[in-house]
Amino acid sequence: MDWGMKNRLTRIIKPDTGRTVMLAVDHGYFLGPITKLENPRKTIEPLLPYADAIMLTRGVLRTSVDPGTSTPIVLRVSGGQSIVGPSLADEEIITSMREAVRLNVSAVAFSIYVGTEYEHQTLVNLAELIDEGEEYGIPVLAVTAVGKELEKRDARYLSLACRIAAELGAKFIKTYYCEDFEKVVDSCPVPLVIAGGPKLETPRDVFQLTYDAIQKGAVGVDMGRNIWQSDYPIAMIQAIRHIVHKNASVEEAEELFNSLKAQK
Ligand code: R5P
Repeated sequence: MDWGMKNRLTRIIKPDTGRTVMLAVDHGYFLGPITKLENPRKTIEPLLPYADAIMLTRGVLRTSVDPGTSTPIVLRVSGGQSIVGPSLADEEIITSMREAVRLNVSAVAFSIYVGTEYEHQTLVNLAELIDEGEEYGIPVLAVTAVGKELEKRDARYLSLACRIAAELGAKFIKTYYCEDFEKVVDSCPVPLVIAGGPKLETPRDVFQLTYDAIQKGAVGVDMGRNIWQSDYPIAMIQAIRHIVHKNASVEEAEELFNSLKAQK
């Protein structure tokens, strides 16, 4: 791998543990002002010191993140649809690689919609983005998106989508955790991180999800709502870090969460 490409990836997936806790705050690109992300700066600022990377759009980056930050940026570069439009899958490239270079990002993120009428469009766009990324040394994170069809999240579908993204040249992939997740990991030659999905019922559920994903081979999380929609987002991200970087158990993470929570 080229030096620049490797250096950028190393900034995100930490070499001492081989893992990462990415903070996803890109939801507004199709959801608008989602709950607890109405004011992005307010949500992002206190969490930034605990994130190994932050995933967001250029608009939120420019308006809501201090350019003095040392946190690596993963720039969302796909979009063009909305939650009230005809199809969540109808995404294209919305931010150029030149802009990504200007913003000094560590990676760009692009969603693919395998199995939809926009499969071809999103896969060809991903491949083109990867060609440009190779030219500039910028890794591409492929996101195996399912839109509103959350029931698609099983090992058979996710293995297919992840493998296709890896074959097209994505350097790492964001997907969902599922039953038999090890099958998704085993058939994918590049690292996987998991999304958190909609807010789970309890903090323990989030720790269990994180723990199971790590145990079955994910290199980390790229999590949003289950962190910043929590009543204790800073305690939550630290407890997640405990599992990802320190191999903590669900109980140990919960213990840390409760002690940090009590300090507030
Ligand atoms: C969703 O489309 C966004 O790309 C999010 O970054 C992603 O879903 C991860 O966030 P969450 O953990 O809230 O699912």
